[in-house]
Amino acid sequence: MSSRPIIVVGSGIAGLWAALHAAPAPVLILTAGAFGRQSATEWAQGGIAAALGDDDDPGQHAADTVAAGAGLVDPDVARRLAAGSIDQVRALERLGVGFEHFADGRWALSREAAHGRARIARVGGDRAGTAIIDALIRAVERADHVTVREHAPVTGLLPAAGDGCAGVVVDAGGDRRESLSARATVLATGGLGGLYALTTNPPGNQGQGVAWAARLGAVVRDAEFVQFHPTAIDIGRNPAPLATEALRGEGAVLIDRRGKRFMPALHPDAELAPRDVVARAVHRQVQSGEGAYLDAREAVGASFPESFQAVFRACMAASIDPRREPIPVAPAAHYHMGGIAADLDGRTGVRGLFAVGEVSCTGAHGANRLASNSLAEALVMGARAGQALASAAGGSLRSAEPERSVVLSQPSLERLRAAMSAHAGVERDEKGLAALLGIIEELERKEGLADALVAARLIAVAALERRESRGAHFRTDYPESAAEARSSRLTLDGACRDRAERITGSPRS
Ligand code: SIN
Repeated sequence: MSSRPIIVVGSGIAGLWAALHAAPAPVLILTAGAFGRQSATEWAQGGIAAALGDDDDPGQHAADTVAAGAGLVDPDVARRLAAGSIDQVRALERLGVGFEHFADGRWALSREAAHGRARIARVGGDRAGTAIIDALIRAVERADHVTVREHAPVTGLLPAAGDGCAGVVVDAGGDRRESLSARATVLATGGLGGLYALTTNPPGNQGQGVAWAARLGAVVRDAEFVQFHPTAIDIGRNPAPLATEALRGEGAVLIDRRGKRFMPALHPDAELAPRDVVARAVHRQVQSGEGAYLDAREAVGASFPESFQAVFRACMAASIDPRREPIPVAPAAHYHMGGIAADLDGRTGVRGLFAVGEVSCTGAHGANRLASNSLAEALVMGARAGQALASAAGGSLRSAEPERSVVLSQPSLERLRAAMSAHAGVERDEKGLAALLGIIEELERKEGLADALVAARLIAVAALERRESRGAHFRTDYPESAAEARSSRLTLDGACRDRAERITGSPRS
């Protein structure tokens, strides 16, 4: 067996869980910043979806997942996710995560949109993310088989001679690049909210993992499906703090600037309608000038400081007291349902390359992720990928020369973000998406094929090609869903070809 380690890129929940489950194989975790401290996991408020209640079972959880995904969830993946998340939550509890229980020992669960039951295992109201990351950091520090290298930004993947992935390339400071060979490489780089003008993600999450894998020929599935969280707190901050959906689960309502609720007229489940429905409603309220506010005065009121500490702190820092006044909200890019096509063990179509968590697309989320299913998927997949890697023999692949990486300048990144929000945001149409592709192409000519441009292009092309509305992908020029639901699959070559055809109108070969 090769002595080369398994390299895990990223230190959110999926990467750390995969690393822990790969024992006794040696694992090297590479993280761009401080260990575990720049991941979207740490910012998660809601918790983990798992059928832990007496009135619930994995079948109902899977059915809700399939229904929310608007025809694109793989029912078998949903079943395995729902069945697996129960054990994963219990495993985290054994590691010391203080999930909430009632005095009689039953789980205290939150209800979130489009879940038929209260099903979210939570910690201290809205502090699940911090509690989970703290426990995982402690576990990794105790694990002999894992080494962590902090402040080691990966700039790309090391191609294998022939095809496949042989490891990663790390920025070693100055102009120096260091090639690290791996027995297998696991991408756990998170999502791409940083491609948008307003996001709830760490802004450095710009789809790098998707871009790196696409450069090696990986298939990117359902790239057009970007979920916008309807209730990011609108206080002029980017990344925007979240007002967790659990607040709506507690009874908080959405109102316009005159105090009138607008959701009951739009969906029978009102504020607990699927996330894409609520995001579009909030978007339209904001665009029309009617405004959107989350009113938790009655539902949460005086208990706010204890029951939703993170939201309370963010509001108070902006001089909004949510016990006494409604919280201004706007949709913000939150989660990428699409990603590198992978199975539930994280295997991609590229030899030697695995992808886990948000960077991957297993078919668990379809066109619209059910709230709090992301941490559930990260745990189920992370455990399975780690176990698959632990038992897999295999030496590392011989490496070939890596491409030179290009980093987009700040002004170009800002231009891209504005264009993504305007044209590939909550609502899209052909004219806007074609304009976006034109901007991407112009930036590419000016600066080269930067990772952010690769990821943006995959989204734009897939959105342009999907001439229907489904889940989080809403085309104002094609507002209906097609009769048949189909996943999209793109390679980088395909996305380049499609883009050229779209813009020049030249026929497909
Ligand atoms: C939330 O707490 O509203 C976010 C949970 C999620 O995105 O799954």
